[in-house]
Amino acid sequence: MLSNGQSETKATDLAYHFHSQTNPQTLSCEGAYVVVKGDGPHVIDEDGKRYIDAMAGLWCAALGFNNERLGQVAAAQYKELGYYHSFYGRTNPKAASLSKKLVELTGMEGGRTFFVTSGSEANETMVKLAWLYHLSRGKPTKRKIIARDRAFHGSTIVAGSMCGLEMMHREFGLPLPGFLHTLHPNTYRVKMPDESESEFVARLATELERMIVREGPDTIAGFIAEPVMAAGGILPPPAGYFEVVQKILAKYDILCLDDEVVCGFGRTGNWFGRQTVGMKPDMMSLAKGITSSYFPLAAVVVSPKIIEAVERYNEGGTAFGHGFTNAAHPVGAAVASEAIAIYEELDIVPHVRKMGALLFDRLKQATKDSPIVGDVRGVGLMYGVELVEDPAARTPFAPARMIGAKLAASAYEHGLVVRAMRDTVGFCPPLIIDERHVEEIGGKLEKAFRDVEKALKEKSF
Ligand SMILES: Cc1ncc(COP(=O)(O)O)c(C=O)c1O
Repeated sequence: MLSNGQSETKATDLAYHFHSQTNPQTLSCEGAYVVVKGDGPHVIDEDGKRYIDAMAGLWCAALGFNNERLGQVAAAQYKELGYYHSFYGRTNPKAASLSKKLVELTGMEGGRTFFVTSGSEANETMVKLAWLYHLSRGKPTKRKIIARDRAFHGSTIVAGSMCGLEMMHREFGLPLPGFLHTLHPNTYRVKMPDESESEFVARLATELERMIVREGPDTIAGFIAEPVMAAGGILPPPAGYFEVVQKILAKYDILCLDDEVVCGFGRTGNWFGRQTVGMKPDMMSLAKGITSSYFPLAAVVVSPKIIEAVERYNEGGTAFGHGFTNAAHPVGAAVASEAIAIYEELDIVPHVRKMGALLFDRLKQATKDSPIVGDVRGVGLMYGVELVEDPAARTPFAPARMIGAKLAASAYEHGLVVRAMRDTVGFCPPLIIDERHVEEIGGKLEKAFRDVEKALKEKSF
């Protein structure tokens, strides 16, 4: 502890660590929260205080924060082969067997796995492959990508361009030209009150088709979507949405790119989100849950027609001009294989469905008497609670009041980690939670709500 009461870690961090997605002024006043230990779905800070992390870190630590088996497998692999790459036809046994497992699990029959090291790289890779696919079929003008408003697909320049969030664009002059955004399937905010679900789906489809026709179908390469939008506010699509969207994509020869970075590996109550929403993608990006985020390994699983395109384009002997130094890392591949083995042993899909139903009920119970809750929604172990000024009229709070962030801060005080996405508070806990953890989340959330409601009543914010 330093004389100003700060720990050495906090002081060093403040002086030297340039943080992601953090307000610099707030950080310089308060310093960072220092997490020192994991215990299943809990984390422990430097003062010994325990929190249940109902966001699994960043939607990722599916097996909690100190899984012993993942640590042991990593240690054994470091002793055996601590690094090798996948350029110039090199591989290692762990990467080879994981590539097979991922093709089998995703159901991408006849497909292959391309390894990368982050969700952003996975999504960028899907864009490059979409371009190459059309190029190799004599359609070089098919380059544009359609994403949705409110989407999050990562932070690199193309991934950031595919985001439909102003905060990802503003400082950097994004999106790049050729990255378009159509309506997002938000049943609470975008569906009109007098519209049925199927009319809403039809309107979303019409908007998409109009955009394609307006831009010129011969300029559109792909459509990217998360099965269930995560950072956009936890938005399961209305029934039949992807079926209708895919018909339009097929009509105009547009590839379907499935961002499974959050939804993959059980999160939505199926192995992959695409099964939950009836999506049939040409490529899938996988990250986070693939290793429970114990190693920065990610992947794109592609359908055979993408492989054929790459082969056709490089017939003359050239190499596929894309790849990353640490892709197919043997330690990452060993950790991923072990994480998947654990999911299988735990029979994770029915477990997620069971715990998800309990969590959904508990969230509804915790918020049922609150005058500031407009919507509780989600699927699997992925839920959002949307805070509003007037639930009857669905009137949002003024963004500058940052009510969602205030609720998240209050929850933190009570030992519960949640995430505010504007005024939607997200719950995406480790998949290993049990009944006691659901109760802990619900009980702590109730306390946070009472604090915020009291402060609103007293007009203290
Ligand atoms: C849906 C989705 N796609 C892509 C990404 C980017 O992943 P990464 O931060 O590993 O680049 C994220 C990150 O949260 C995400 O939520």
